[in-house]
Amino acid sequence: MAIVTLADILKDAKENKYGVGMFNTVNLEMARAVIGAAEEENSPVIIALAEVHIPYGDLNTLAPIMVKFAKEAKVPVAVHLDHGMSFELILKAMQSGFTSIMYDGSTLSYEENIEKTREIVKIAHTLGISVEAELGHVGGAEGGNEDGHETYYTKIEEAGEFVQRTGIDALAVAIGTAHGEYKVKPKLDINRLRDIHNVVSAPLVLHGGSGLSDDDFRNCIENGISKVNVFTDMSIAALNAIADRPKKTSYPDLINLTMEAIKAEVASKIRLFGGSNRA
Ligand code: 13P
Repeated sequence: MAIVTLADILKDAKENKYGVGMFNTVNLEMARAVIGAAEEENSPVIIALAEVHIPYGDLNTLAPIMVKFAKEAKVPVAVHLDHGMSFELILKAMQSGFTSIMYDGSTLSYEENIEKTREIVKIAHTLGISVEAELGHVGGAEGGNEDGHETYYTKIEEAGEFVQRTGIDALAVAIGTAHGEYKVKPKLDINRLRDIHNVVSAPLVLHGGSGLSDDDFRNCIENGISKVNVFTDMSIAALNAIADRPKKTSYPDLINLTMEAIKAEVASKIRLFGGSNRA
């Protein structure tokens, strides 16, 4: 198939009410496992390098591999920078062939977030690259509304204007999810999601996908989510494979075991999000 932009992939997902999985890849093996799962499921997919993962896999090394895998894949693949914050890294990702950038200005003031996001959109769109931005703030996994994180939830009255003034292709919303392993069972604000969906034309993105229930995913996709980000569950699947390995496993075999575990985890998420046979 081909390497595609985020806007391309999410257009069909939004129209047909399914979710496209975005899976963080910190090395070649993870990228291969994710694309392998998407090919088996005949599903579009997004592979992403997050700025916080740069210490594990630097952009100069990983970008050519990710772009090559995407170009050679049998399904549509977007190559995405996740939670880009540094202007230099974002520009480097654009130069390296990424087809999508998330600019994360979620800790800035509303006006500053708009201003910085607009700057990125202007450059990215000139180059035919998509942009995702975040309004409100999805924090770490200690979150959930028990911890008072509602103050960071996306404000319905700001969401429409934010998308309109920035010109972004996808909006990440804060509705009660968090990154990492949940310590408190998350309670998602589906009413808020529905209200945001009613006022925003751009596809919506759910961060912190790991640890949510099947019903949470179904509810979110039913009420407007088109892209679901997952990382921690892939890491857990790999760690479980390592813990359960046969006694005399060689290192290369161990790598294959972790790849198979990640692939199975990704395939099950793709099925859950409704992405199978949508390529
Ligand atoms: P999890 O690690 O909680 O799945 O979150 C991934 C994510 O949102 C990346 O942007």
